[in-house]
Amino acid sequence: MLREKSFVNFKDIISQLETSKESRINFYFVTEEQNQEIYALLVHVMGYMDKLYLVEVIFTVLKELLMNANKANAKRDYFSREKLDIQNSTDYAKGMSRFQENIIMKWNEQLDRLDGGNYYISLLMKVDGKSIHFAVENNAPITKEELARVNRRIEVAKNYNDLSDAFTDVSDSTESAGLGLVLIQLLLKNSGIGSDKFKIFTNDKITRATLTVPDVTTPVEIQTGLKTKLLNEIDGLPPLPHSLTKIIQLCNNPDSDLHMISNEIERNPALSADLLKLSNSAFFANRSQVSSILQAVKVVGLKNLRNLLYVSGVRKIMDGQYGKMMDVWEHSSRCSYYARYLATENNHTNKIADIIAVCALLHDIGKFLLLSVDRGFFKKIETYQRGADSGNSTLLEEMAIGLSHPQLGALLAEKWEFPPDLRVAIEYHHKPFLAPPELRDLVEVIYMANMMADYHEQKKGFYAIDKNLLAKFNLDNIDVFSAAVNKVEVLYKKTNE
Ligand SMILES: [Fe+2]
Ligand SMILES: [Fe+2]
Repeated sequence: MLREKSFVNFKDIISQLETSKESRINFYFVTEEQNQEIYALLVHVMGYMDKLYLVEVIFTVLKELLMNANKANAKRDYFSREKLDIQNSTDYAKGMSRFQENIIMKWNEQLDRLDGGNYYISLLMKVDGKSIHFAVENNAPITKEELARVNRRIEVAKNYNDLSDAFTDVSDSTESAGLGLVLIQLLLKNSGIGSDKFKIFTNDKITRATLTVPDVTTPVEIQTGLKTKLLNEIDGLPPLPHSLTKIIQLCNNPDSDLHMISNEIERNPALSADLLKLSNSAFFANRSQVSSILQAVKVVGLKNLRNLLYVSGVRKIMDGQYGKMMDVWEHSSRCSYYARYLATENNHTNKIADIIAVCALLHDIGKFLLLSVDRGFFKKIETYQRGADSGNSTLLEEMAIGLSHPQLGALLAEKWEFPPDLRVAIEYHHKPFLAPPELRDLVEVIYMANMMADYHEQKKGFYAIDKNLLAKFNLDNIDVFSAAVNKVEVLYKKTNE
């Protein structure tokens, strides 16, 4: 049984899977840190299976099952310490009445209690042709009451079509079988894996939940009223202002000269101000003060200029339609600063620094729509994601709405004819491993900058971040990571003073 730092040897596991051997990872108690490793492992395993698009779904299901196993083991351990018989219904009621207070409220102590004890949890994986089997096993047989409760939840879940149904019907929160099982059913149904591929088995020694991912999965298209509303909203948005698209075209045309472009910009005071601000920003430091538009265009370059035009166009439309959503803009401008910092630190300067600031500024444009169409509902999803699951995925949005904010952002990018790199950065900023390989470096920087910004804004914990990417940026240690965030935040604050 393992508790040490890096517990998973990816290479060993992949080679076991290649030979169709069962791989087994054992735990006494699954920590957040280990969940982070499991996510990184799944990126490798599902990549090997050519099923990367299912990483988020599988991870969410396994994480839920591992959490349930943690709780089940902690419960047995508690009952035996209190000398209560879990099979006896009077004892069961007695134990459960104090479970919340003594175990759930003291969750951080459970690792030390269970470490080296009688209870274990295993994560099993086995490849069978083109399908893959997962199982979560623990040596606490499920009781009749528990099994009945689980089955009740599963029955209820069958009637839900999307997560908004489930949100309005979560009452059973005292035990592990809360929203979790409902969520699993919905995820399996909607991802096309099929809810019949999930089974719970128990005998007098163990409980084992199994999930088989078949070779072929056909995702269900989720239809919700909210989705229709959002799509209509996009249709109704105006095109980018003509004054801006005109300059964008000039920038894209190799024959146009800088004087022509500068003259065009000078007709637009707001744009002129933004451009001067950008050209004098820390990113283009070590130059003398820029005061003319022509000089500014030379300093930032045509690519940056063109990108700035997209930002000012989007800003104008969004502010006009939805009022100033300062929380989103504040987050975006922080993210943009962090992204430029990361790009410089990692020597991406020449290749992608030109576009990175804008990609980061616009990465969450889909959120404007979600917030404006149903702010309350979106906030509810955000809160749930923060509480019960510290993951960074947009699965809940996909399940509850049928569209996530990156997908909405990509639709806007199409509508306004953004260049492909900008569209890809928006679409994949939560799933960089799915981005086209030639743009992956760019998307990874946006992903990491966003995670760092979320971490600073206390929306994400360190263990919710993809460990493979943390390692790539040399940030795969919580102290190093948090020091880096603090450092860049201080620099960011200075530029805003
Ligand atoms: Fe986002
Ligand atoms: Fe974001």
